[in-house]
Amino acid sequence: TRPLKVALLGCGVVGSEVTRIMTTHADDLTQRIGAPVELVGIAVRRPDRVREGVPAELITTDATALVKRDDVDVVVEVIGGIEPARSLITTAFEHGASVVSANKALLAQDGAALHAAAEQHGVDLYYEAAVAGAIPLVRPLRESLAGDKVNRVLGIVNGTTNFILDKMDSSGAGYSEALDEATALGYAEADPTADVEGFDAAAKAAILAGIAFHTRVRLDDVYREGMTEVTAADFASAKQMGCTIKLLAICERAADGRSVTARVHPAMIPLTHPLASVREAYNAVFIEADAAGQLMFYGPGAGGSPTASAVLGDLVAVCRNKVAEATGPGESAYTRLPVSTMGEV
Ligand code: HSE
Repeated sequence: TRPLKVALLGCGVVGSEVTRIMTTHADDLTQRIGAPVELVGIAVRRPDRVREGVPAELITTDATALVKRDDVDVVVEVIGGIEPARSLITTAFEHGASVVSANKALLAQDGAALHAAAEQHGVDLYYEAAVAGAIPLVRPLRESLAGDKVNRVLGIVNGTTNFILDKMDSSGAGYSEALDEATALGYAEADPTADVEGFDAAAKAAILAGIAFHTRVRLDDVYREGMTEVTAADFASAKQMGCTIKLLAICERAADGRSVTARVHPAMIPLTHPLASVREAYNAVFIEADAAGQLMFYGPGAGGSPTASAVLGDLVAVCRNKVAEATGPGESAYTRLPVSTMGEV
């Protein structure tokens, strides 16, 4: 069988780990896919910053030329942000490549248009790594639960804020003290706005709600409240009531089934609830479905290796589809339920 050619866009914490696993697990990947997988190029902005172990001969700064190669079967995008990721992905589709992306901001903003472009060109768009790192959520919702009716998705989908809230809960620290600790330990970014103001969780909520309810939900549809106003006094009151405080993403189908809501805000949850025991930077997501009942998914929601695990899983899936000359599930069967921007909180 001819080797499948893969191009990688971005080689930071996640990309370098993807490269390492592709090299060390090459034989396993070949067996699981039914064809060898060959990394043919790695586009980076700063070649001088490429991590040790990444094959130097594959590095290029010309991402556009890489995605325009007609011999590339799969493009893996781990650069994040809207542009140039969106243009590069679109060009990759036009040249017949399937795409694996970890880009939650882009999927939450332009997922529908990107899915339409992928379908138009007969290729795949997979993005398990965009939501909650290693935790399988996108494909379980899209595939394993496709015969069921999902009514609610509820979870902790941001590790940085869960770490901060957990610190405040366990040590009585205030918000800024806990944020400083999260920054010192490398959990929070230098600019933590996207995490603490809830934008990151809202993007993930939009993606999950869209897939869970077979409709289209964008970042702007998600009601969002960050956690910067939560105080040590709030935790003391929560404790008195046998509760803790978590930043939750809540996606629900209306009781009449005719619309959906998605929202992100700090919420009190009883200590007896399984989400209360999600500590440090872990993520956890509850899914309630008609036939399945309650399911809980738990694990590391960020970091190089966990995110690379999800990217590699998608890579295997889209490569299998290429070998079978097929594509995976797209969005053409979506029902387009109206999205209400503000649920009853
Ligand atoms: N900033 C994100 C988090 C990284 O803290 O969960 C993973 O998307």
